[in-house]
Amino acid sequence: MQRRTVVKGLTAAAAVPAAVGLASGTARAATRTAATDDSLVFDPAAYTEQAIAITDTAGTAHDVVYRFYKVASYVANPVDATYQSLNVSVPVSIDGTAVDASGAPILFANSVGGYMPSSVSGRTGITATGMGGGTSRQGLALAAGYVVVEPGARGRTLVDSAGVYYGTAPAAIVDLKAAVRYVKFNKGRIPGNVNRIVSSGVSAGGALSSLLGASGDSPLYDSYLAELGAAPASDAIFATGAWCPITDLEHADMAYEWCWGSNPLGSGAQVDRTISTALSAAYGDYLASLKLSAKGFGRLTVRNVDDYLLKTFMQPSATKYLAALSDADRAAYLAANPFITWAGGRATFTWADFLTHVGARKKNTPAFDDFAMASPETNLFGTGTTRARHFTLYSLRHANGDSARLDADIPAKLHLMNPMYHLVDKVNGSRAKHWWIRLGTKDSDTSHTVAGNLSARLTALGDDVNTSYYWDAGHGADQDPGDFISWIAKVTGHRSRPKK
Ligand code: DHB
Repeated sequence: MQRRTVVKGLTAAAAVPAAVGLASGTARAATRTAATDDSLVFDPAAYTEQAIAITDTAGTAHDVVYRFYKVASYVANPVDATYQSLNVSVPVSIDGTAVDASGAPILFANSVGGYMPSSVSGRTGITATGMGGGTSRQGLALAAGYVVVEPGARGRTLVDSAGVYYGTAPAAIVDLKAAVRYVKFNKGRIPGNVNRIVSSGVSAGGALSSLLGASGDSPLYDSYLAELGAAPASDAIFATGAWCPITDLEHADMAYEWCWGSNPLGSGAQVDRTISTALSAAYGDYLASLKLSAKGFGRLTVRNVDDYLLKTFMQPSATKYLAALSDADRAAYLAANPFITWAGGRATFTWADFLTHVGARKKNTPAFDDFAMASPETNLFGTGTTRARHFTLYSLRHANGDSARLDADIPAKLHLMNPMYHLVDKVNGSRAKHWWIRLGTKDSDTSHTVAGNLSARLTALGDDVNTSYYWDAGHGADQDPGDFISWIAKVTGHRSRPKK
């Protein structure tokens, strides 16, 4: 467990007249909300001022001065503050012009990957560099004048000295919710508009980001949050950004075989046909049970969901890609990929040809609840001193026989981890209403139906959904990071304000 440390400000807030607006807001908030624990009260004066050069998506470098806050823990009773802590970055000036971020949107950027633990406690400034070496989403947001909150969260591999796994489901989502509650509890003290929190995450982080958006203020998490001493506040967020979300885990094996069942493994070998076919066949019943519909397609079933994915996402993705190429490059691409028909500025092709074009599937079958329990997800559903467990009846019974039953706690934990539960089984009115969903067309870490179903359901619920697939891109791609930053301004109604 980590000792609480607060980095004291290099610049006293009181010495900066520009901070006065914030200070008076602080006083009001302090009298309005009776804190249950002083450790959960954000100290606006506890920052270091830092300068950083941030290159935007147009390639222009910006000199950004920002206040960097380290919050030792966002819960009163941390299990492990190394993970249950967060950092806040607040722009002060951009290219020498003072900015007022007091009403700015808050990018709530998780850095979860693989459902592993993620910590920001060792960081001494904003994470301005992304995975690929370019500017991170956090960096772009800061340079756009937004407040950036970077929460850590427990993850599946954490184990204590007694051998107890303390970061398995639902720890990561409970932690992210607790971090949101901390931010919202500190309204008026923490800079930015706490009612305009925009979550972001990639892969397992994208799954958690969509779950955070879908499950806002669900009472199902209350007991877990109470145990941690989470701040008494809402955990609903305004908007969700999710890149290649690895979610709907208990149906992901079936969905994977429906999508990639006929694609070979990297070795060129086919997966076990009996298992693949059984799982794929079971997907039809699941999809039907969702009762999804999409404009122009009606009820989505296994008879038309390929066409839905093809026409809604894959063909427009290829069209956008090809339209942006020079005539010579487009001609070369089309010559190398004769399965695409290019006519009237639009790309068309069949679903079968698209699958062949993607080529090798990334995972064997079952892709998630694998028989050997070597997958991240079997570990995610571990508990106590048990590292990994089966979380689908199919894999459990394959291992233990037809009368085997899932452990009694598994169904509830699956609900706690699945955004679809909060959008279909129990439609959550407190969910985020703005959604940015992105995925590479060559990403076979999960079925294309996972994002497709999420998008269809949210759209049918009337939410503002911006879903797009990056053509030929693989797992973790983000090809329009600047557009996401502009989208945040649009959906939050934010206009950057120079400081008066
Ligand atoms: C991630 C990727 C996976 O294929 C998976 O099953 C879980 C998580 C990830 O990149 O976060």
